[in-house]
Amino acid sequence: MSTHPAVEAIDLAKHFGDNRAVDGVSFVVPTGSVLGLLGPNGAGKTTLVRMLTTLSVPTSGTGRVAGFDVREQPDAVRRSIGLTGQAATVDEILTGRENLRLIGSLYGLSRGYVRRASDDLLERFDLARAADRPAKSYSGGMRRRLDLAVSLLAAPPILFLDEPTTGLDPQSRSGLWDVLRELVQEGTTLVLTTQYLEEADHLADEIVVVDRGRVIAAGTPTQLKDRAGQASVVVTLTHAADLDAAAALMRDHSPAVHVETGSRRLTAQAGGLGDMTRIAAVFEHSGIELDDLGLARPSLDDVFLHLTGHRAESDTDTAATNTPEGAAS
Ligand SMILES: Nc1ncnc2c1ncn2[C@@H]1O[C@H](COP(=O)(O)OP(=O)(O)OP(=O)(O)O)[C@@H](O)[C@H]1O
Ligand SMILES: [Mg+2]
Repeated sequence: MSTHPAVEAIDLAKHFGDNRAVDGVSFVVPTGSVLGLLGPNGAGKTTLVRMLTTLSVPTSGTGRVAGFDVREQPDAVRRSIGLTGQAATVDEILTGRENLRLIGSLYGLSRGYVRRASDDLLERFDLARAADRPAKSYSGGMRRRLDLAVSLLAAPPILFLDEPTTGLDPQSRSGLWDVLRELVQEGTTLVLTTQYLEEADHLADEIVVVDRGRVIAAGTPTQLKDRAGQASVVVTLTHAADLDAAAALMRDHSPAVHVETGSRRLTAQAGGLGDMTRIAAVFEHSGIELDDLGLARPSLDDVFLHLTGHRAESDTDTAATNTPEGAAS
């Protein structure tokens, strides 16, 4: 096992004239883990990835990938990584298989290896049936998958993905998430950028939130959500007529009970699952019927609002609301 982290950014900066696109960013990505770089348009995500993949020279600071310095050992860095950029780079005229073959020869991989690896990748990315059709006939999702397959051809231990699922429909997106999870299970280290809170939440072990070239927060998805506020127990009654009685019952167990006027919902501040089960037990023999009872934590969108004062881009309306994480009745 290697002792160095897979990726390290130490006070990395990139200035374009007066524009401090990246302004002193540090993070560490342990081998085998997934880092999500989360931030809105223009935050500096692509610039960070370009520096770490040797495509752009840092103005200051240090980047290390697989233990190699991006400035001093760019060739060694390149041999350790795969990169799927923000824009699709497949050659439209070539077929899927030919795209793989082309990259294989550019990398100097043996033909036999490329043939076997291509079959495997085309199968894994659900492109086997389309493998011999020109890529111009592919859908957006298929192009994204081919892009990813190409970047995996040399079996790199560290993979950089710049907004891998932007522009994909929800089904292709979750298909790609499955593939990425498999890669991680096999030991690949992932650094991915995204504007989608949901994506970071699904995939990342650790999230670094960047805004205007700086890190504004970092932590696990749960840690970030905890910072945005407390969890609450949300109770939905079957009959609105029970609201007052239910509120009285809950006030014995939580200091802050909020009744949503005009609805059948009550929320109580909670420390966690224990509070939820206590409140569930109180209703058990109360004669009050419940439609639902669950624990709601702040979403990453709440986190973003909390940190930046503005909402992040979000792909679904539900990403902006609290998600109940447990239910009992
Ligand atoms: N080659 C360049 N020359 C000048 N300015 C640049 C260059 N590349 C990026 N920038 C600027 O750096 C800042 C960060 O851009 P970057 O592309 O890294 O953001 P991003 O987080 O990837 O955004 P998006 O989500 O839109 O892809 C922006 O203000 C951008 O205009
Ligand atoms: Mg970008």
